[in-house]
Amino acid sequence: MTAQIIDGKAIAENLLNTIKLRINNRLKANKRAPGLAVILVGADPASSIYVRNKRLACEKVGICSTVYDLPAATTETELIALIEQLNQDNTIDGILVQLPLPAHINDEHIVERVNPNKDVDGFHPYNIGRLAVRQPTLRSCTPFGVIKMLQAMNIELMGLDAVVVGVSNHVGRPMALELLLAGCTVTSCHRHTKDLSKVVKGADLIVAAAGKPGLIQGAWIKHGAIVIDIGISRLQDGSIAGDVDFNIAKTRAGWITPVPGGVGPMTVATLMENTLLALEISESCK
Ligand code: GUN
Repeated sequence: MTAQIIDGKAIAENLLNTIKLRINNRLKANKRAPGLAVILVGADPASSIYVRNKRLACEKVGICSTVYDLPAATTETELIALIEQLNQDNTIDGILVQLPLPAHINDEHIVERVNPNKDVDGFHPYNIGRLAVRQPTLRSCTPFGVIKMLQAMNIELMGLDAVVVGVSNHVGRPMALELLLAGCTVTSCHRHTKDLSKVVKGADLIVAAAGKPGLIQGAWIKHGAIVIDIGISRLQDGSIAGDVDFNIAKTRAGWITPVPGGVGPMTVATLMENTLLALEISESCK
């Protein structure tokens, strides 16, 4: 058996085209384009690439983006002052603070200072809470992107035994909540899980979000299972690897995402959709 490769790049491209159409329709109706503020503190090379990709996606769909490139020595107080200013700015619908921040700034303090209505990352505890109580509004981009990708592949989630490997605040936890909302029976695995291989072997759907290359062995994958790899790490030889041993896993899985070209483009496309949604929600509240 060889798995069907899920082409996240192509699915994201379709989504971006739909968003572009929706924004064009707004402009034709004399409504303004959405505005996204992206804040980058310091010069982490991976973060700089992610921010560049987000800016390019904005250009593509017609979102007005402003990138704030702040020095690594920016203080928490200075960063909060900028966020407060953007919270008040009526031309800005979405605020994204690229994580991780330098060690002297607490990521979670900063996430909580973004107005939840402009939290297009879906990281604010208010938005995570909305998802937990089955009233999702702005949903975390990577987990929601995974759901959209599975929907685009016509994969039925209701009743599946799903395992999420990784319990980070911004990916693993909201991923488990998304799958619960979709009707899966969900198991979350983490560093204290006693027998990871046993849990993975029983799963119909595996979402790997640990950020540990090769953590999920190919031989653990149940025949026909759906494998979604969110992990993305740079190896010493410069190549990019996911958490799943792709070459063996693809001989057993029914569907599998590649790294790169799987989940990553869906995260960016979902960010674009969230920014448009934030504007639409703010208009509907006027
Ligand atoms: N760092 C890595 N991925 C992301 C993301 O999706 N959003 C933010 N804000 N930071 C990130």
